[in-house]
This record gives sequence, C-alpha cells and structure tokens, in this order.
Amino acid sequence: MAFLELKTVSKGYGSRSEVLKDINLEIERGEFVAIVGYSGAGKTTLISLIAGLIKPDAGTITLNDLEITDPGPDRGIVFQNYSLLPWLSVFENIYLAVDQVFCNWAPARKQQHTEKYIAMVNLTPARDKRPGELSGGMRQRVSVARALAMDPQILLLDEPLGALDALTRSTLQDEIGRIWEEHKKTIVLITNDVDEGIYLSDRIIPLSAGPNATLGPSIAVPIPRPRDRKAINHDPHFRQIRREVVEYLLGVGGRRHVTVSRKLFLPDIEPEDLNAPRSILGSRRRPIRRHEIRKETLESHS
Ligand SMILES: Nc1ncnc2c1ncn2[C@@H]1O[C@H](COP(=O)(O)OP(=O)(O)O)[C@@H](O)[C@H]1O
Ligand SMILES: [Mg+2]
Repeated sequence: MAFLELKTVSKGYGSRSEVLKDINLEIERGEFVAIVGYSGAGKTTLISLIAGLIKPDAGTITLNDLEITDPGPDRGIVFQNYSLLPWLSVFENIYLAVDQVFCNWAPARKQQHTEKYIAMVNLTPARDKRPGELSGGMRQRVSVARALAMDPQILLLDEPLGALDALTRSTLQDEIGRIWEEHKKTIVLITNDVDEGIYLSDRIIPLSAGPNATLGPSIAVPIPRPRDRKAINHDPHFRQIRREVVEYLLGVGGRRHVTVSRKLFLPDIEPEDLNAPRSILGSRRRPIRRHEIRKETLESHS
C-alpha cells in the first residue's frame, strides 16, 4: 500500500455536481509530487481532504495505512495566505506549534528546535519581528518553518507561493527544493504554475477543470537534482513534460461541455407591402411568426 493513498474520492458542497470526482492518487514516502490545475478546479478542496479538514462524500484516504478522519500533526499544511498569528513574533509563532506537538519536551529543547527551523529558512535576523513587519516572502518562510518544525510525516503546500512577486517566488522555490533535499519529507505541492511544479517535483499530475475535476496522467520528472533554473528550460525532458501537462489542461482536462439551447429570431423576409399606410410600415409590433424562430444548440469548450 502506498504511503498516501486516495481511492475513488469524490467531494461536493451540496450542489448537484461534485467538485472532485473519482480521485485516485498514490504517493510514496519521500516523494515530491506537484498537482497543477486551474483556479477553482478544486485544489484546496483536495488538500483539505488530505489534511482531514473536510470529509469525502465517497472513497477513502489513508496515510501510512490509517484512514484520515481528522486533522493531525502528522500533516503539516502551508496555505497561500500565511495564516500566522499577527500578535506573535516569528519565534513565538513557531514555538507555539512546537509546544503543541512536543508538549513533553523541556523548554530549552523546544527553544533550540524552534531556533533551528528559523535558521533553516534564513530568518534568524527577523526572529523577534511580528508578521506585520515582514514581507510576504518572509511570512511564507515562517509558515514553511512552522509546518516543518512540527516534524510532520507529510507536508501539504497549497499554492504557498501564489501571492508572491516573481523574484521572491523563485527564491522560495529554491529554498523549498533545498529543504526537501535535506529532509526528504513527502511533499504534495499544489500550484497553478506548471514550470514551478516541474522544477520542484519528482512527479507532476494535472487536475482537470471542475466541476467533476479529476486527476490526469501522472508524469515523472526524470531531471537530476540539484536542478538549475536556467538550464532546465533547455532540458528536453522539461519541454516534453511541460507540453504534456499543458496539452492535458487545455485539451480533455480543461474542456467543459456546456450545451445551451437558445431561440434565434430570424429576420422577417416577407416582401413589404408598399401600398400599406406608412404608420403600419414603420412599426413592427406584431407577434413573431413560428417560422421566424429557430432553435440552435451550442457547445462551448472552455
Ligand atoms: N466551503 C465551500 N462551500 C461551497 N463551495 C465551495 C467551498 N469551498 C470551495 N467551494 C467551491 O468548490 C470549487 C473548488 O474550490 P477550491 O477547492 O477552493 O478550488 P481551487 O483551490 O482549485 O481554486 C469552487 O467552485 C468553489 O467555489
Ligand atoms: Mg485554492
């Protein structure tokens, strides 16, 4: 059995169609898997299911052979919107989480552990600053450090770099790559950036557009690590994987069939009666005749 396993998982929020439908996913221990999809496809829903924050309507999710029913410290989560406590410093935000998970440790050990993770994300000079005094990139590094400091079995990253500018984003991508190489934690990275997904992961899986979104083919990324951001653009594997993911997202996985029937009002092509009084000629206030109406069925691909 795989380390993390989702079997025929479906989830909706009460409306007729499901957000996610028939999700099957297997992730091995130590793997770095990226899932890429459109906004609104159901990526946060998928992460929230794995996190145990919500329950599937159908199917099962297991981590290490145990069914996930609730949130737990074995899963560290980093969301896009930082979710730090604004009245606590960098140190305190991380210490609080360490204190919750390792409550039986001596205070000195908890403090040392917290300092280690602050250093890992290069935030030691900012350890006493509050979130309001930090840039977006720094805040997100605190979130990553906090999740890692809890020593989870799996790290769930839900578009962690989505709100950052391009330069900060690439710096943090490199940091996440470095941390993963050091710790070899199992990581699920949700992203809307195909290049980011390929750059960081061992395997990338596209999520089709919703409703009824499902996972597409799992594509291995056989590019050796450490990876070079510039060189990767010329790597034939990179280009091929990119093409496959984009083709899936734009093709079958991105297509939404919408069938609409609409009434068309065709022009009245009866010859004008030139002998009719002008007042009648000018107005067209009469019932529309049956032959002026035609039904048309449209199929839209979006
Ligand atoms: N709590 C909720 N209640 C109702 N609908 C929701 C809820 N959360 C998400 N949705 C809907 O589910 C769909 C997928 O949302 P989400 O998982 O946040 O997508 P993504 O993270 O890919 O942008 C969207 O149409 C969204 O409006
Ligand atoms: Mg989301």
